[in-house]
Amino acid sequence: MSSVTSDNSHVNSGLEGVVAAATKTSLVDGKNGRLVYRGYDIDDLADHSTYEEVAYLVWYGKLPTAKQLAELEHSLAIQREVPKEIERLIGEAPDTAHPMDVLRTAVSALGMYDPDARDNSLEANLRKAIRLTAQVPTVVAFFERLRSGKQVVHPKQSGNLAQNFLYMLFGTEPDPEVARIFDVCLILHTEHGLNASTFSARVTASTLSDMHSAITSAIGTLKGPLHGGANEQVMDTLLEIGEADRAQDVINQKLKNRERVMGFGHRVYKTEDPRATILRRHSEALGRQTDQLKWYEISREVEKTMREDKPDLYPNVDFYSASVYYMMGIPIDQFTPIFAISRMAGWTAQLLEQYANNRLIRPESEYVGPPSLKYVPIDKR
Ligand code: COA
Repeated sequence: MSSVTSDNSHVNSGLEGVVAAATKTSLVDGKNGRLVYRGYDIDDLADHSTYEEVAYLVWYGKLPTAKQLAELEHSLAIQREVPKEIERLIGEAPDTAHPMDVLRTAVSALGMYDPDARDNSLEANLRKAIRLTAQVPTVVAFFERLRSGKQVVHPKQSGNLAQNFLYMLFGTEPDPEVARIFDVCLILHTEHGLNASTFSARVTASTLSDMHSAITSAIGTLKGPLHGGANEQVMDTLLEIGEADRAQDVINQKLKNRERVMGFGHRVYKTEDPRATILRRHSEALGRQTDQLKWYEISREVEKTMREDKPDLYPNVDFYSASVYYMMGIPIDQFTPIFAISRMAGWTAQLLEQYANNRLIRPESEYVGPPSLKYVPIDKR
């Protein structure tokens, strides 16, 4: 949408509606509330697939054979460790640091130790995509253990990414049902068109900078509360509400104060985010399984109030992922790093596309400052 500023210039605010890249990786159909990875509907993938299979799909453009999947699973599993220097770096981060800052710093540092650091070929970038996807859960889990005064739990070379991450985080084997719901969360967050963090990553890559630099840009962008950071704030709101019968009052007050209700609204979806539909089911199931249904019930009440007061704002992916992660016992400020773990496959898939068909991304700004001023010497100002 192009808007005319007070200076009468034409600025496309927020780049809304601008098509800035072609991608075969995902289709975000905002009108019909559909999300498709490489032709496959997200509902089918959430029901039948695994994060590893979806990662293969977005990187290579087709579903793997059993052999191809086993090879990728093996490759991911054996590259989970991070260099000792990175473990030390994570250990030296202040306990008060936001885990997204630690993740952003560690990913940037990983670039210095990557064996393919200076190789920007397709083959090297695919290897880096796999390595980053394998290493990032370890970074997140290590910081969680260290900041809470516990020893790190090193990754195993068995189990899928979801199981292994929960194992490294909690130090015990996860319940299989919980691990499966976590895997579904990873699938649902894998890829999402030209969202803000993917755009950042592509802008960085378009200068022919390296993949670690591009992913560092993406992590910084994902952190913001209007993007991935919303899931943390959703949980803060649910905690503030505390009981389902308070939801209406708290939400109405927020709307009256013109505050945003986190987890609602979307730039592209003008109907329900299909990921929220799936996560709602899992939030309820997990609530029953862990005897914490209250968080699902509060979420339902928030949704009801929003439907009455703001019928054009639907829940997005962050709304129900918040209660799901919380009920798994995951600390709230780790919700966005988990988003980054899963988006790693999508970011890197789109970077492969960017490098394959690169042109510098360099939009223009409209100058709206004063036209031509005469320089005034400093002693005359
Ligand atoms: N709660 C209350 N009002 C909201 C809202 C929300 N979650 N999201 C949008 N609005 C309102 C805005 O205040 C604005 O109202 P106004 O025109 O009266 O000022 C209007 O809807 C349009 O908002 P705008 O920010 O221009 O839309 P956008 O397309 O740029 O924003 C989001 C999209 C996602 C940034 C926005 O919906 C939002 O901030 N949501 C909450 C954060 C969130 O959940 N982010 C995760 C996205 S997956």
